[in-house]
Amino acid sequence: MVYLFPKDFSWGVATASYQIEGAVDEDGRKPSVWDTFSETPGKVVNGDTGKIACNHYHLYESDVQLMAKLGIKHYRFSISWSRIIPDGRGQVNEAGINFYQRLVDCLLKHGITPHATLFHWDSPQALEDLYGSWRDRQMAYDYADYVTAVVSRLGDRIINWMTINEIPCFTYMGYGVAQEPPHAPGTLVKTKKEVYQTCHHAILAHGLGCQAIRAASSIPCQIALVDNCGVTVPISESPANIEAAKKAFPTSWLNGAIIFPVLTGAYSDAMLAELGENAPDIQAGDLEIIHQPLDAIGLNIYTGIYVRAADNQRGYEFLPLPEHYPRLNMPWLHIIPESIYWGIRHLSETLAHPNLPVYITENGCAVHDQINENSEIIDSDRIMYLRQHLKSAHRAISEGYPLKGYFLWSLMDNFEWAWGFSRRFGIVYTDYNTQQRIPKASFDWYAECIRQNSVV
Ligand code: NOJ
Repeated sequence: MVYLFPKDFSWGVATASYQIEGAVDEDGRKPSVWDTFSETPGKVVNGDTGKIACNHYHLYESDVQLMAKLGIKHYRFSISWSRIIPDGRGQVNEAGINFYQRLVDCLLKHGITPHATLFHWDSPQALEDLYGSWRDRQMAYDYADYVTAVVSRLGDRIINWMTINEIPCFTYMGYGVAQEPPHAPGTLVKTKKEVYQTCHHAILAHGLGCQAIRAASSIPCQIALVDNCGVTVPISESPANIEAAKKAFPTSWLNGAIIFPVLTGAYSDAMLAELGENAPDIQAGDLEIIHQPLDAIGLNIYTGIYVRAADNQRGYEFLPLPEHYPRLNMPWLHIIPESIYWGIRHLSETLAHPNLPVYITENGCAVHDQINENSEIIDSDRIMYLRQHLKSAHRAISEGYPLKGYFLWSLMDNFEWAWGFSRRFGIVYTDYNTQQRIPKASFDWYAECIRQNSVV
């Protein structure tokens, strides 16, 4: 079987500002909640912080050369709000803008198209101090002003915008879940309703952000949201289990409260019924703002949830995984490659936009990388994971679903949030002592996939 991709398929890699840039107090940048959180003893594994991370702020040119060597034509990165508007609102820091101008110009010089995520979890600390950031509706309006500042300055050279990355992670997990290790800002609120309110403010920010991008962009542009929807996978592909997985999709994870209102203009009924009195307050006009026309949707898919048909009121049940189900080096990273196919298919079939272009904006894995005596990293486990997931992506395309591109997470090992540097997701090894980059075996493997436009 040859897994050939369409000619215009976009191959890429993804990163995010706080995870790679470092230079946290240079050229006018002020702290984000992740600086404060990681500087607080006991929060991040081994006390790691993003202070230096991959020093990409200074090494971006050689990092772009590495991307060119890999053969990618698309790069997804994020812009740090605290570099652009260090106090969260008000004065724009032109030096911060200048860094992204230089980065984008360098990408373009190498024939790589930039895809900029406008928010990847690093809220300005000043707004957390001022009004509790996502707990307050004002955050959505300040986000839109920040977006205007960015797009009016960079919109001449960036046409692919992603508003917000993985809303559940900085709302639900940042304000609602006491997990180990914890998640910034780590301010637990008292009620579930307040948690869902932070989430509502984030989708409102998405909508206002879309409007701001269209108003500020000097040229026609493409806008997407990046969601990590909970992917329901039928345990076997019998008609009954497929139907069950489809039915379960709105109540899985936060799907009914994020991707549903964004793409259909309404929270899913099933989700609202489950939330009951914990549903957020929705002001008149909010859903119209949230439901903006989009040019694409980005899905970050790493794993899934098995579902089967059941003789209960809902008609389905979620199936817990056995204790020793295979997984890679994160507690949640169970290997369920079909999740890519089913994520794309559910989205296309359930959300009223069968032809909306879909991008896998993240897929990848952390493994226990070892450097051998020849200074190589032969990460065949990562290759196994990626190969299976790309085959699943190919299946979606071969059945006619509108998958247009794939961004591997991540170009290089980086600051994996509360896990610090203890978890490596890169296809390039980062030596944090010397900042040396060593391409792993998966780098060569991915380069060959891109060269052949196929899964190899
Ligand atoms: C999703 C997030 O967007 C990214 O920041 C993170 O590093 C990866 N998942 C891996 O956990």
